Amino acid sequence: MQDLTALTEAAQTEITQCSNLNELSNLKAKYLGKKSSLTAFYGTLKELPPEERPAFGQALNEAKQKLEAMVQEQEEKIRQRLWNAQSQNQIDLTLPGICSDIGSLHPLTLVMREIEDIFLSMGFEIAEGYDIEDEFHNFDALNTPPDHPSRNLADTFFLRDGNLLRTQTSTVQVRVMEKYAPPIRIISPGRCYRNDKADASHSPVFHQVEGLVVDERTTLADMKDALQNFAKLMFGEKVRTRIRPHFFPFTEPSAEMDMSCTICEGKGCRVCKNTGWLELCGAGMVDPAVFDFLKIDSEKYTGYAFGLGIDRIAMMKYDIPDLRILYENDLRVLRQFR
Ligand code: PHE
Repeated sequence: MQDLTALTEAAQTEITQCSNLNELSNLKAKYLGKKSSLTAFYGTLKELPPEERPAFGQALNEAKQKLEAMVQEQEEKIRQRLWNAQSQNQIDLTLPGICSDIGSLHPLTLVMREIEDIFLSMGFEIAEGYDIEDEFHNFDALNTPPDHPSRNLADTFFLRDGNLLRTQTSTVQVRVMEKYAPPIRIISPGRCYRNDKADASHSPVFHQVEGLVVDERTTLADMKDALQNFAKLMFGEKVRTRIRPHFFPFTEPSAEMDMSCTICEGKGCRVCKNTGWLELCGAGMVDPAVFDFLKIDSEKYTGYAFGLGIDRIAMMKYDIPDLRILYENDLRVLRQFR
């Protein structure tokens, strides 16, 4: 009887201190299994004098029930603790969600898409080129002689392998004319790079939309018409345009198109430096020398090209006073375009 009491006490301490289901199942085998001391006690029953057997037998049964109950209780405790620990890490799917900040399109992207839509509505297609170009596509094929100042390191970013970061989207004109025969009617929006120090109106990275039309009777009047239409669709019916002679190596004649200042409507203000006009784009009739480079029959075909500065258009459209604002990506600015 004393041995049995000692055994139950030892079992009780071990079982109630157990915190892990595996250990508990080992303890269960140790105290209640076939090879346990308790089972062995049952074997000693027949060695007792017959009058003592019932009492010891009953004590054994009680001890067995007690231990079984103890194991079960401990198992429940352990399971409950595991469940509690798990449910603390659990996500409550019924809670309302956390709203993440909603992004917006960058003003340059907005303007770019608007320009694309306008030209698409005028029957142009979108063509793409490469940011990294070679001298042939950026200069040679665009009739720009080897000693032209724009080829200077001070103006162009050259790469170690002799390629360069395109200084203008006019490279895409060349790529399109290499690949496709006229009639051609494309625009090509994209990034350009020039070795300029960043200030209110310059940035080493900026954006242009190139336009190119090549066909059998394309004239300067077509060019004026397309650009005037564009200006009106982009800035409103009231906008007036004018064309000034200019020079580009790859167009002849070359021109720059201005539009009446959108802020003062031509009266003169700080933005247009009191001239009433803002420069809109470079343009011109494709120089036959460019056609010759690209083996397009310059007797048969004529064409016009233009290059719009997207950054400047975004600045005019959204009244942004400093070009750097477009590249700093200050969230306080960007949030206004939601
Ligand atoms: N590529 C010229 C520039 O960057 C702009 C231009 C494009 C002029 C097409 C004429 C025709 O200044």
